[in-house]
Amino acid sequence: MEQIKIGMLGLGTVGSGVVQIIQEHQEKISQITGRHLEVKRVAVRNVAAHKDEFKDIELTTDVNAVLNDPEIPIIVEVMGSIQPAMDYIVQALENGKNVVTANKDLIAQHGSELVKIAKKNNVDLVYEASVAGGIPILRTIVNSFAADQIEDVKGIVNGTTNYIMTQMVTKGMTYQAALKSAQELGFAESDPTNDVEGIDAAYKMIILTQFAYGTNVKLSDLTVEGISKIDAADIKQARTMGYTMKLVGESAEINGQLAVSVAPALVPLEHPLATIQNENNAVLVKGAAVGTTMFVGPGAGKMPTANSVLSDIIAVTKNIILGTTGNTFNGYRQKAELATPDM
Ligand code: HSE
Repeated sequence: MEQIKIGMLGLGTVGSGVVQIIQEHQEKISQITGRHLEVKRVAVRNVAAHKDEFKDIELTTDVNAVLNDPEIPIIVEVMGSIQPAMDYIVQALENGKNVVTANKDLIAQHGSELVKIAKKNNVDLVYEASVAGGIPILRTIVNSFAADQIEDVKGIVNGTTNYIMTQMVTKGMTYQAALKSAQELGFAESDPTNDVEGIDAAYKMIILTQFAYGTNVKLSDLTVEGISKIDAADIKQARTMGYTMKLVGESAEINGQLAVSVAPALVPLEHPLATIQNENNAVLVKGAAVGTTMFVGPGAGKMPTANSVLSDIIAVTKNIILGTTGNTFNGYRQKAELATPDM
């Protein structure tokens, strides 16, 4: 069977989950794609720290050995942060490599320009894992809402904060203890400030807004408030009045104007968002034709996020076989070109 070789940048929580799924589900992936997927080489900062993790995978500190390898058509970027990830992705795209990334900070801030570079080079740039972890929400919006007009996208899109608030209420944990637990479980970002201040959720709402309405918004266009000032007493008080508190992101089109926000909100206990616990996320998408739909699942964590990365790798593999790379998430691209380029 023909092989498709994969190069990776980073081997942290999500990266090691990606390798694990590819190795454990090799046979099933081969049946679906008709190709044997192999992680050939991974660029890491410290080879010694990872050398006993996986057999048969070459680890290197030389990023160019991954980005310039002619045998590798797919690069998976799971190192996070803006730089140097952005430079590496640009180099990969310019080298004619397809790129799969989970990097929402980068896509929210520079997605428009990266998509243009991908299109120019006729390669895919896909990032299902960047929004709502294990929920396949971007692909669903592109495919299943293609002929509908989306009017509202609303939900819980940060696993860490939902986990913290759940633990504070159900287990009486302090904010600091719940945050520490979220970090240990691999839900929080390496610097959790973006999680608790609503910035991580805001980046996801920027990407959802792009997909739902074809409009680029930037962080300064959003109203953003996190949960760092909330305490368990606030949430318990809300419950006595028939509400719970959730960090809710919303992107609504009202009379042609977009309003995008992230803020703690009182949610009636009978509302579906009130039932979303721990690191789970939920996204409600309202279409003019279909009405309101809801998508629920783990929004953070190693294996759910790695599974979304795999769904992108498999989509790209199919495009390579069909010779149709450069078309994935094409709805995003066409609209992105019409929108302001300087997001
Ligand atoms: N820190 C993020 C969260 C990880 O808690 O939702 C998934 O994007």
